[in-house]
Amino acid sequence: LKTLKIGLLRSGTVGTGVYKLVESQKEEMPHKIGANLSVAKILVRDKTKKRDGIDQSLLTDRFEDIIENEDIQIVVEVMGGIEPARTYINAALRAGKHVVTANKDLIAEHGKELLDEASANGCDLLFEAAVAGGIPILRPLKQCLAGNHLSEVMGIVNGTTNFILSKMTQEGMEFSDALMLATELGYAEADPTADIEGYDAGRKVAIMASIAFNSRVTFSDVYTEGITKITSRDIAYAKEMGCTIKLLGVAKNTPEGIEVRVHPMLIPSGHPLAKVDDSFNAVFVHGDAVDDAMFYGRGAGELPTASAIMGDVIDVARNIQFDCCGRISCTCYKDLPIKKINE
Ligand code: NAP
Ligand code: HSE
Repeated sequence: LKTLKIGLLRSGTVGTGVYKLVESQKEEMPHKIGANLSVAKILVRDKTKKRDGIDQSLLTDRFEDIIENEDIQIVVEVMGGIEPARTYINAALRAGKHVVTANKDLIAEHGKELLDEASANGCDLLFEAAVAGGIPILRPLKQCLAGNHLSEVMGIVNGTTNFILSKMTQEGMEFSDALMLATELGYAEADPTADIEGYDAGRKVAIMASIAFNSRVTFSDVYTEGITKITSRDIAYAKEMGCTIKLLGVAKNTPEGIEVRVHPMLIPSGHPLAKVDDSFNAVFVHGDAVDDAMFYGRGAGELPTASAIMGDVIDVARNIQFDCCGRISCTCYKDLPIKKINE
């Protein structure tokens, strides 16, 4: 059997999870894709740093070792941030490699550019892990629910802030202690400002709105307000009112245009969203045919996020095996008539 090879860009929380899943799923791959799958190289900044459970001989500090390696057909980008991730992904696509990424910063800002590059080179570019960690949400929006007019997509899409608010509400934990714990558990971004100020949720809302509403919403279109001003007194008042405070991301498709926002909200304690705790996420979708649908699961962390990436990797591997790569993966970023955004 042939072996399909992966080049992994970084081995932080998510990269380590991807490596572990590729290893633990080895026996399954011939049944799932008709080939073996392995990680051939891992790009890191420091090759000498000990990385638990990772074969040190795979580490390289040269991007050329991945881009010039013709055996590597799939690049998984889990480094985060705009640069150098954008340059590396564009280079990988131009070299004919398929790309899977978890990078919402990049997709929310440069999704069209990257998908155009993928199309031009007959490559796949998939990013299910960029929104809501392990929860399948982008594929349902772009495929399974495509027969609907979707009017609303909303919910809890940041695990770190949901973890912090849950700890403050249930255990009276201080904001800073809960943030430290979320960082230790691998939920927070390298710079957690993106989580606590609502920027991470804003990027996810931009991606979901683009896909759900056939639009092109970028992060700068999203009103964002984070949870840094929430105090223990606010939490106590919310409880007195029979409510829970949650950071919600909301995208609405109205006749006047698209509305996108992220801000803390008071949710009545009996509402299903009030019961979404810890690092879990939940996304509600309303469509004219399906009515209400809810997607719930772990929104952050090593293995839940790696689960979404592996799903994309396996999709790409199947496309390679059955010669159907480069199909249209995201029409919202194509040059079709797009919906206007309500300023
Ligand atoms: P991470 O643990 O911070 O790792 C990313 C890489 O950044 C590390 O491999 C490391 O490079 C480098 N890095 C780590 N700490 C650093 C520091 N203090 N200064 C400079 N560089 C540092 O990030 P991650 O959580 O795996 O996230 C990777 C990507 O997945 C991001 O785009 C993120 O938004 C996305 N994502 C994360 C989650 C999650 O739950 N964590 C979920 C969904 C999507 P070296 O390997 O070279 O040391
Ligand atoms: N920092 C992000 C979160 C990771 O807490 O939701 C998942 O995208």
